[in-house]
Amino acid sequence: MCGIIGYCGPLDAQKVLIDGLTQLEYRGYDSAGIALFDENSNIHFIKKVGKVAALKKVCEASPISSHCGIGHTRWATHGGVTSENAHPHMYGHITMIHNGIIENYQELTEAFHLKGKLLSQTDTEVSAAVLNELYKGDPLSAIRGLLSHLKGSYAFCIMFDDRPGEIYAVRNVSPLVAAYTGSGAMIASDLTALLPYSKKYFVVPEGKIIRLTAYQVSVFDICGNREAPDYMEASWNTDAAMKNGFPHYMLKEIHEQPEVLKQTVLPRLKNGLPDFTAEGIPDSMLKSVTEIRIIACGTAMHAGMVARSIIEPGLRIPVTVSIASEFRYEEPMITQNTLTIVISQSGETIDTLAALRLAASCHSPVISVVNVKGSTIARESDYVIYTHGGPEIAVASTKAYTVQIAALYLLFCRMALVRGLYTDEQARQFTSTLLKCSDTMEAMIGRKDLIREAVSHICDSPNAFFIGRGMDYAFSLEGALKLKEISYIHSEAYAAGELKHGTIALITDLVPVIAIATQKNILAKTISNIREVKARGAFVILLITEQTKTDDDLADLVIRIPETDDKFTVFPIAVVLQLIAYYTSVQKGLDVDQPRNLAKSVTVE
Ligand code: AGP
Repeated sequence: MCGIIGYCGPLDAQKVLIDGLTQLEYRGYDSAGIALFDENSNIHFIKKVGKVAALKKVCEASPISSHCGIGHTRWATHGGVTSENAHPHMYGHITMIHNGIIENYQELTEAFHLKGKLLSQTDTEVSAAVLNELYKGDPLSAIRGLLSHLKGSYAFCIMFDDRPGEIYAVRNVSPLVAAYTGSGAMIASDLTALLPYSKKYFVVPEGKIIRLTAYQVSVFDICGNREAPDYMEASWNTDAAMKNGFPHYMLKEIHEQPEVLKQTVLPRLKNGLPDFTAEGIPDSMLKSVTEIRIIACGTAMHAGMVARSIIEPGLRIPVTVSIASEFRYEEPMITQNTLTIVISQSGETIDTLAALRLAASCHSPVISVVNVKGSTIARESDYVIYTHGGPEIAVASTKAYTVQIAALYLLFCRMALVRGLYTDEQARQFTSTLLKCSDTMEAMIGRKDLIREAVSHICDSPNAFFIGRGMDYAFSLEGALKLKEISYIHSEAYAAGELKHGTIALITDLVPVIAIATQKNILAKTISNIREVKARGAFVILLITEQTKTDDDLADLVIRIPETDDKFTVFPIAVVLQLIAYYTSVQKGLDVDQPRNLAKSVTVE
């Protein structure tokens, strides 16, 4: 949450910062601001409530000639959405931007007698004031002093008013990547802001202090000794983070799914069999674990629920799926025989990271399924399965979900193989069906018009229900989340069989119900549940496979997905659910890619 960028170099710093903030805006968009050293070494601030576009307008109206500056796009935590609370914050010699939460800011306010001296309600300004107190002309020693007082998570970029042309940065938990590019030194919350300038970058090591000048990026350890940064190469293109002609990132990312599914699966097939040698995942471990814990948040957690539906029945070992923010407080029983799987697109979600650390402390082997290379979750896991989804910019997760499921399906297949539950032939059949899901997704993308028609029955309704049983219920959870986050329609997912235990009281002829019925083993029962809501007047949109026979009066609108093995219906169904949410948001004239109150990467608890 919150996007940070810093730049020192020959280019127009104001432009570099605004372009970078535009790339990072999905991390938070309550307000935005920049601070720049001008050519006389004075610091100028521009802050605006609202989106980066508002800041850009002001900047363009009064450009500042600068080659060094920092910029921030905010997702509010401490203090409301006001220009006083927007970053950068200035206190004495210090100008600071921050992503994270300083938990002991109230104690620090008292300890450093800051009451009545602060302009904002933010924990960031408190940190700037403490740093100012400690600053006696040596930035490294003052920053070291500051760190000894702080509790919480942070990524800071700092300018000292008597050190023009220099930016300092430090982080704990909250992400930062940096690079010396062909055109200067850069630092940012994530890679997408650096990509237009460099494919080589390094993850800022926690607790190390970074100094950017126009000529270099230096890393200092806590004793002030220089260290060589550990550069890595991005596999994403600049293009991948652009809209490429689509009106929204979300639509572009929905369309990318058939391709990125193949990119995630194909490199892990050897003679048609799943193979995790490159990830170093030992078969002996996959064979010996006696239970699996899947932990994640939001859409990633829903991907885990889909995977659970095939892993537990397929491997006959217990599999639980936990919401990461709850997991730590459940006092979970984990042992070295528990395989922990954490799932995260960003690899930075703080609750997922905390859950990972807890599992690791219980000696459980941890596999993470992560999209962002080098992210904290990836680095702290014993093994990483990277999904090759490319950058996901829309706040609503789409392609990350389907590639996470594809990666988890491959892992399941490997486990079934090494545990003697699948023959080579069965495993090959499984992976070949998985690859064909690329076509079933493509087919649903081609049925956009029918899906748009369904949307006209949802748009004006304040409520919607998604129902299903078994795996279809897991899909419903994701459908409801997608719809509520970008259309603001109150959407609930319900296990279809559970409705009559209370919730069916809410069903009237004003409530559209999206019923998912792709699981043959439970089809008859799901159909009875659909009849129950239909009988209460609901407008039913039925999602079902091509060859499933239904009575004409069962639903008001039927969307059929290609016939496929029950385990794989998630892929075409996901596309339908994503497009339902997308077109609803578009039809309501909402901000599809940056829905209110949300941010792409949740790095605060
Ligand atoms: C869903 O559309 C969301 N953007 C959200 O639920 C997301 O999946 C969740 O915050 C987890 O993020 P992660 O995959 O980056 O950990």
